[in-house]
Amino acid sequence: MNILTFRSNEELNKAGAGILTGMLQTNPRAILGLATGSTPIGIYEELVQIYRQGLVSFSKATTFNLDEYVGLDRSHPESYYYFMQKHLLGHVNVTPEQCHIPNGMATNLEEECQRYDSLLEQAKQIDLQLLGLGHNGHIGFNEPDHSLIRGTHVVKLREQTREANARFFNTPEEVPSHAITMGVGTILKAKMILLVVRGIDKADIVKQALQGPITTEVPASLLQTHPHVVVLLDSEAGSKL
Ligand code: GLP
Repeated sequence: MNILTFRSNEELNKAGAGILTGMLQTNPRAILGLATGSTPIGIYEELVQIYRQGLVSFSKATTFNLDEYVGLDRSHPESYYYFMQKHLLGHVNVTPEQCHIPNGMATNLEEECQRYDSLLEQAKQIDLQLLGLGHNGHIGFNEPDHSLIRGTHVVKLREQTREANARFFNTPEEVPSHAITMGVGTILKAKMILLVVRGIDKADIVKQALQGPITTEVPASLLQTHPHVVVLLDSEAGSKL
């Protein structure tokens, strides 16, 4: 595991966008696993700048997002579909066919999970999986539990997670109770994983995830078993390592 700590958000964003750019420059057909949440926004902004300078192209890339809320329409500003359009996909040269996000409005959610898994299977392997980190150690929406699920599944969100995400909604009640998430098996199958964490409120969970015991009660601790993980931290998130 290669852990890099940055003094400024700007440097961290440049490093993250640089890694994604390098991936697409060496392999224009790269399959990217993308994440939402506040953490990757600065990296996506930097990547859009690099794209506008003509230094990177997405024309042959494929993207798979980690997760989506159940019950939020694509046009809902807090849906992850909307988020991705707003922060990255709406600004670069991709067609809708290249970009995959679970459909949280599907009438049959089980079938939707199977559809997503078969797309992932056809793609064979994600080249670079970008990840943020939840306060309880969740990755995607894989919440701490006695056991974790390998493939795409519907998950009931923990109260802590709903509270953390309530800042994006008008009222806490509006935060969806369920989500569809890629499973931990799919995440760990990626060739390379780029974990990004910011802020003092994540310092403890960063320590647990990166240096604590490997346990399903801290899903991100499973990343310790992966052969190629790069971690980008701001100095606050890395302060307890
Ligand atoms: C959300 C997302 C995760 C994200 C995490 C942290 O619930 N499902 O993919 O990594 O929580 O979010 P943030 O970056 O806003 O702290």
